Amino acid sequence: MKTIQVARPSMPDFEEYVAEIRDLWENQWLTNMGAKHTKLEKELSTYLDTPHVSLFTNGHLALEIAIEAFKLTGEVITTPFSFASTTQAIVRKGLVPVFCDINSNDYTIDTTKIESLITDKTSAIIPVHVYGNVCNMDEIERIAKKYNLKVIYDAAHAFGVTIDGVGVGNFGDASMFSFHATKVFNTIEGGCLTFHEKSLYQKLNSLKNFGITSPETVDYIGGNAKMNEFQAAMGLCNLKRVNSDIEKRKAIVDRYVELLGNIPGIKLVKPQSNIVSNYSYFPVLFDGYRMNRNEVCDILMQHNIISRKYFYPLISNYECYKDMFIFNETPVASYISERILTLPLYADLELETVDKICEIIIG
Ligand SMILES: Cc1ncc(COP(=O)(O)O)c(C=O)c1O
Repeated sequence: MKTIQVARPSMPDFEEYVAEIRDLWENQWLTNMGAKHTKLEKELSTYLDTPHVSLFTNGHLALEIAIEAFKLTGEVITTPFSFASTTQAIVRKGLVPVFCDINSNDYTIDTTKIESLITDKTSAIIPVHVYGNVCNMDEIERIAKKYNLKVIYDAAHAFGVTIDGVGVGNFGDASMFSFHATKVFNTIEGGCLTFHEKSLYQKLNSLKNFGITSPETVDYIGGNAKMNEFQAAMGLCNLKRVNSDIEKRKAIVDRYVELLGNIPGIKLVKPQSNIVSNYSYFPVLFDGYRMNRNEVCDILMQHNIISRKYFYPLISNYECYKDMFIFNETPVASYISERILTLPLYADLELETVDKICEIIIG
């Protein structure tokens, strides 16, 4: 059997992409906020239903630059149950990550535990809409207001998700979306920030372009995080197919749920009310099942099926932080991290393959 990857990029037809990039050879404008970049920002603003979108070369740099733009200081509350990027951005910007536990229903930040972690050094909360599951944003907003904290959502997994019909990128001070090749929507590498404050747009344009504000003025200590025209062209093509991709993902998730939904020891995330999902991941918790998570991962691998221990290890157990920080205990995150496995999911995954994967798991 050919190898089944855990994720696979959606790609436009080759001819469609070539047609989209052809004019780059005529106008020879390849980066620095070109026409395709501008067009993609506009189209994404409509699709994500947010007033402002700022594109970046990847999601990680978007997050780092949001941290710079809001001049965060001291401590930032986040969760250890995420991809490396979330905490690496905090630490690379010279801040101290403070880990809050997650809840066991949807694996997002446990908002009942945030307030006890706030100190006079706390400047922000960076919650993660993990697997596209939406955080308890009402509660996060209430806490942020009470303690005067900034909120930057890591929405890397949440492209196209809506809550009560509103795009998930409309909340907090900003949200970061990742357009990495394996995400629901990709620009090869790429990402964006969404936000409401208009003045932020120019500031972000400067910060992603060496701090330059005009030909003879450099107002910020910026780096380089600009999305180029080839990435934007990929985005323009892929945006046309993202809704149909999400539909296909839904059919795959429905099949997984049908086959794995009622098996003792296998726990799936319940759909959240008022949320339209993007079906970005299919996390399965093996808790009291006849095989543990590692055994399931291994047996799938023996059949050339790649699953992913996403997220294991917890960020708080990373070697690189060992001598830097003393982290709070996060027992729920530890428990979930030892038992969670994400199964293959991408738009063109065949339902027969899903059946086969479930058959191997169920035995
Ligand atoms: C939760 C999370 N945060 C941040 C990132 C970073 O995004 P990027 O890969 O676009 O830099 C990713 C994805 O890779 C992610 O999954």
